[in-house]
Amino acid sequence: MILNTELEYKGDLFPSSIIEYKKDVDVLHFTTANNVKLQLTVLRDSVLRFRYSTVGKFNKDFSYAIDKNASRGYNHLEISDDEEKYIVTTAKLICHIYKVDLRISILDAIDKTIICQDELGFHWEESYELGGDIVKMSKVAQNGESYYGLGDKPEHINLKGRRFENWATDSYAYGKNTDPIYKAIPFYTGLHNGKSYGIFFDNSFRTYFDFCQERRNVTSFWAAGGEMNYYFFYGPKMEDVVVSYTDLTGTPELPPLWALGYHQCKWSYYPESKVKEITKKFRDLKIPCDAIYLDIDYMEGFRCFTWSKEYFPEPKRMVKELADDGFKTVVIIDPGIKIDMEYDVFREGLEKDYFCKRADGPYMKGKVWPGECYFPDFTRPKVREWWAGLFKELIEDIGVKGVWNDMNEPAVMDVPGKSFPPDVRHDYDGNPCSHQKAHNIYGMQMARATYHGLKRFNYPKRPFVITRSAYSGTQRYTSTWMGDNVATWEHLQIANIQAQRLALSGFSFAGSDIGGFAEQPNGELYARWIQLGVFHPFCRTHSSGDHGDQEPWAFDDEITDIVRKFIEIRYELLPYLYTTFYQYYHDNVPMLKSLVLFDQEDTQTHYRTDEFICGNQILVCPINEPNSKGRRMYIPRGEWYNYWTKEVITGGKETWVDADLDTMPLFVKAGAIIPKFPVQQYVGEKEITQLTLDVYYKDGKEDSELYEDANDGYDYTKGRYSLKKFNFAGNGDKMIIRIHKRGLFNTSYDTFKINIHGLPFKVKSIKVDNEYVDLKEVKFKNNSLVVTKLFTNLQLKAD
Ligand code: GLC
Repeated sequence: MILNTELEYKGDLFPSSIIEYKKDVDVLHFTTANNVKLQLTVLRDSVLRFRYSTVGKFNKDFSYAIDKNASRGYNHLEISDDEEKYIVTTAKLICHIYKVDLRISILDAIDKTIICQDELGFHWEESYELGGDIVKMSKVAQNGESYYGLGDKPEHINLKGRRFENWATDSYAYGKNTDPIYKAIPFYTGLHNGKSYGIFFDNSFRTYFDFCQERRNVTSFWAAGGEMNYYFFYGPKMEDVVVSYTDLTGTPELPPLWALGYHQCKWSYYPESKVKEITKKFRDLKIPCDAIYLDIDYMEGFRCFTWSKEYFPEPKRMVKELADDGFKTVVIIDPGIKIDMEYDVFREGLEKDYFCKRADGPYMKGKVWPGECYFPDFTRPKVREWWAGLFKELIEDIGVKGVWNDMNEPAVMDVPGKSFPPDVRHDYDGNPCSHQKAHNIYGMQMARATYHGLKRFNYPKRPFVITRSAYSGTQRYTSTWMGDNVATWEHLQIANIQAQRLALSGFSFAGSDIGGFAEQPNGELYARWIQLGVFHPFCRTHSSGDHGDQEPWAFDDEITDIVRKFIEIRYELLPYLYTTFYQYYHDNVPMLKSLVLFDQEDTQTHYRTDEFICGNQILVCPINEPNSKGRRMYIPRGEWYNYWTKEVITGGKETWVDADLDTMPLFVKAGAIIPKFPVQQYVGEKEITQLTLDVYYKDGKEDSELYEDANDGYDYTKGRYSLKKFNFAGNGDKMIIRIHKRGLFNTSYDTFKINIHGLPFKVKSIKVDNEYVDLKEVKFKNNSLVVTKLFTNLQLKAD
């Protein structure tokens, strides 16, 4: 392709000097002498949008990425100019637009330091071959700057010194540094001098990012078509940058709680007796599990929305029997529709003209699992509506609870590029275009249509969708996984980085194929991978099935026990994970935090890859090597309890942590209050009559949250939820927990079992809601006690 280097700017064109400026409320319009237009929109005090046109006018403003509910509004906006530049000032930022060449500098409004500055700034190349501009942007890389984000790249967490391409690609058995893979998420954060900002290049064409690889002091991004259209977010905290990007591109609704349980998958479980054998084994061995997956072999000749009569003669009965045993059935649905006049989905799609076509009219024909297929144009609203409707039988009648969208890059077999050719036409919601523009959003629109189908036919229960391909904003509709990884130790580390990177890129509900998809893990690798996987928002074992079994019992009894132990920990932590999801859904906060996101001021964190925080208070670090008795890891600043020994360690340093095969390095932040359920074999198996709160004492203060609701359905959107904020305070001989509660939901339990770890004094008196209580009354023993759920204030004292 022509786009090998951003630097080939010899023939590039640049804006000349500004000759016109107009302000239209919060949109500023600048025009240059050579007819370049810049539209600068002030979305928020810390969010600006830059849009450039090289032809004096803009095309219709349309994006699949932006959430219609994104926040807007600022506290302050002032525009002035001097000889050199226009100056836009908000409460957080100052933006300079240089009159001579339209270049931009963005400064912190308070201390006036430079945050982000154009190098060449916007420039472009007219591409005869593409039929449009290659739009380019280059920025000065600041001293010591680091870069993070970009979705699913299987690369070092810090992107500095590397170049990337965004083009959704089916990548069986990808490896470290394979680029691109399945997703296109053109968002990154920069961090320098303790301050962080973000850039979202909302352009669905093939995009490129270069982080100081080509030139040491320059970061650039460009696209093979479309507009130079990017959003700038300022922190200075990186978490706030990610929150702003996530606010702009949206978060999912809350998933049904079972979706946060453990999922078992394989290519493929069939026939029905095999599925039942697997689910029975989970229950017999008492290994919690909530979902069982049917891969492509459940269908009749891989025709979507059909069932193999031979393997699954009575799907409705089977799905019900599985449901009675606590298993939700999730089935795969791919985009390719088999060319077969006997097949009603195909016939209908053909009759109604719903399939993608080549430029000159023929249908886009491509080979996938079923053989030759046509592909719905999911970028047409009517086609999405039709697709959603196809789920009626599967969901409403048969009772399937989740749908897995795969091969939606879209993948095509045996052709160069492994996808559609560039001339294929798409509707793009009334903005007709070629595949060059629609490729990266194709999978997203498929998942969107699927989500609407599930929502319609599963209502009032919540839908569950999982997709392989994605563009920015896809997280509004679906969860995701990292595609076809490999059963190697290196891939365990890659999975860890990808989950962190996706969370930092607004897509928290993600997980890897635990154990690896291609090839076969040994028991040790599988156990270490489960240990990591239970701390990922989405937790599923999946494998290609070619190389033997990959269920928790497929190795030996020791491994089975370890796997059970960690899945049980996940089930105990469900209220914590659900609260973390709530914070993602409601506050746009990423569910996993790389250490740099957790504490950017500590420069030690800028290159840490293995350690991460799950939620706000649990520090996790997987073991990435065989035969380990533990590992060295970095403990971030602050005080942390070893989860197993309850020993307290002060962070800000690297340390050795013991971790035989049946444990892993796991720490809890001092002051945290961690809510726990009893172990259940599946969500809802037991009525929760008592909730455990594990309190990790600290000299000082720490806040925690607990979000609860009916675990499914939409009552929570009408106020029927319960959000408790716990304020913990300890001072050596006294400890207080205050609870502030919001919401109308009444939890099923009536007491809290409170376990206090690390209490430095012997308890002499206890007050609940300012009244002394007898220690016996609250069953006080070994620093544990039982208190009614309605308390708002608990105090333990040494006198
Ligand atoms: C693709 C998917 C994989 C699935 C297989 C068969 O390789 O990534 O998860 O099992 O197709 O459907």
